[in-house]
Amino acid sequence: MCGIFGIVAKEGNIAQKLLIIARRLQYRGYDSLGLATYLNGKIDLRKDMGTVESVVESLKLDKMKGNIGIGQLRWSTFGRPSTLNAQPHFDCDKDMVGAHNGNIVSFYQSKENLEKYGHTIISQNDGEICVHAVEEHYDTEKDMVKGIIGGIKEMEGSFAFVCFHKDTPEKIYAVKMGSSLVVGIGEDEHYVASDLPSILPLTNKYVPLNDGEIIELTADSYRIFSAKDGKEIVREPRVTDLSAEDAVKGEYDYFLTKEIHEQVEATEQLAFGLESDILDDLVDKLAEAEMAFLVGCGSSLNACNVGSYYLNNLAGVMSIPVIGGRFFEEFKNYKPSKNTVILCVSQSGETKDIINTINFAKPEGYHILGMINVPGSTVERMSEAYAYIGAGIERSVPATKTYTNQVVLFLILAARIGYKKGIISDKEFVSLKEEIHNLPKLVEKTIKDCNQKAKQLAMELSEIDAMSLLGYGVTHGVALEGALKIREINYISAEAMYSSEFKHGPLSIVEDGYPVIYVVAPKDKYYVTSHLSEVECRDGRPIVIGEHIKGLDKHVKPGDYFEIPKSSQLISPILAVIPLQLLALYMSIERGIDPDYPRNLSKTLTVD
Ligand code: M6R
Repeated sequence: MCGIFGIVAKEGNIAQKLLIIARRLQYRGYDSLGLATYLNGKIDLRKDMGTVESVVESLKLDKMKGNIGIGQLRWSTFGRPSTLNAQPHFDCDKDMVGAHNGNIVSFYQSKENLEKYGHTIISQNDGEICVHAVEEHYDTEKDMVKGIIGGIKEMEGSFAFVCFHKDTPEKIYAVKMGSSLVVGIGEDEHYVASDLPSILPLTNKYVPLNDGEIIELTADSYRIFSAKDGKEIVREPRVTDLSAEDAVKGEYDYFLTKEIHEQVEATEQLAFGLESDILDDLVDKLAEAEMAFLVGCGSSLNACNVGSYYLNNLAGVMSIPVIGGRFFEEFKNYKPSKNTVILCVSQSGETKDIINTINFAKPEGYHILGMINVPGSTVERMSEAYAYIGAGIERSVPATKTYTNQVVLFLILAARIGYKKGIISDKEFVSLKEEIHNLPKLVEKTIKDCNQKAKQLAMELSEIDAMSLLGYGVTHGVALEGALKIREINYISAEAMYSSEFKHGPLSIVEDGYPVIYVVAPKDKYYVTSHLSEVECRDGRPIVIGEHIKGLDKHVKPGDYFEIPKSSQLISPILAVIPLQLLALYMSIERGIDPDYPRNLSKTLTVD
């Protein structure tokens, strides 16, 4: 998804620093890059399609002069990738330049209106609409904040916008209207960017912004204004302990490989919080809930699927996983009771489908809770209580360590709630705690034990274009997650379902050698043996992921049993996703695909 950014500094050239931010926003997915800087009465705007490095090289972006500038990485939605549609854009007089992130859904209507007012719009890109809309009002108001307030009334959509004007060459402005945006505070300089990790090499001091806020940055000040009435808002900066180092590949070829390995540290980080009072609020609110909707998208939704098993079975909290984009349509006529909660699970905390759910549900009386990874995110700020999953920065588009930590946090919450309610005995709680503390070691062992086997299987499956993954009970979410990983970075069909469902139609796909992966938790041998035999007897290729289960191994070829370390019904699904992540990674490398940047995808999806 597009990323916008800007810097205003007291002196010196900021091009190199703009490029630091641009490089760190690449993970969001993009097809074009542009920068605009200001020096001695002139705006220098350079932009083109291509990778950051190719555009830097061809347009000499690193040599641009000026101590104020903005930039944008574009992921096309309105207008195909082209130099003209790349951002930033000029206004009619070329005295203002701006770029946006998100979508202006009123594109055609707003364009028509602006053209009627006399504006010339030269691209097919909705970012240009933002620039002209602000120009329209600035030209009468001669005040950038008022210009932005007027400009946003010309448009409908969900976006963030950054700009500067020749009339105020020591300031940059930005507005947050549904897409993420954060202010960074440096020494004698200020930054604005679509996310916090992108500015971490420059500062760890930041100011989170809410929707409907405009910021004005100079080298030594930041001011926040309401986009409704222009009133000034006072907000103190915060300091994050996220580290810039988390976001470099180090010894690994891909972020994905690194992040799979980082699951050892990530789970360790979380296990420490097991008894921490940081979770008290969330535990109390969930414990009181009559019903909990667990709302997420993609991998976060798959984590909700495993999480609902934990909450239903351990905590006595009636829990239903719901697709982020579906909540409103499904429950628009449902009146929540006083204690119905929605737990929003989102790594980024910015996913539009989740924000839409909150915007609909909050006024209806639902209690909004959050499970997030990025501090200061929109979900955090809209939640009554929230917890961080503590996975550190995740750069690769495919979620790995954040998915795992979401699942682990679900288990921790369920254990604490179950214990608090007396559903889990002292003995059971102590034993669960021990298991969670031991988890990082098991994660490490699983990676070590399964790595080579995953490589081998990836080679054997390098020609296939379809496969199925089945889970039962607690492993259903794991099969869904494995299939998502395989599909996302291999561009093949990998369908996951509840294993009892396979015989109700999909079984007809099975022919000689057709791969079907079974993710098995230790207590589910009875049903899984039956489901697996349906494939075995039709000459399909059953592959098992799970701890050693006596008898089950007889149904698969020797190399096709991914044995994970012995644990328990609740821990084993956390480990079982690892061989699937490794398999997806190695299959992707076999196919010559860069697993960190799968085509058409973006890390943070801030559009409908
Ligand atoms: O930031 P979120 O957790 O809300 O993102 C939701 C999905 O877009 C995300 O989990 C996506 O499915 C993964 N990148 C897939 O690996």
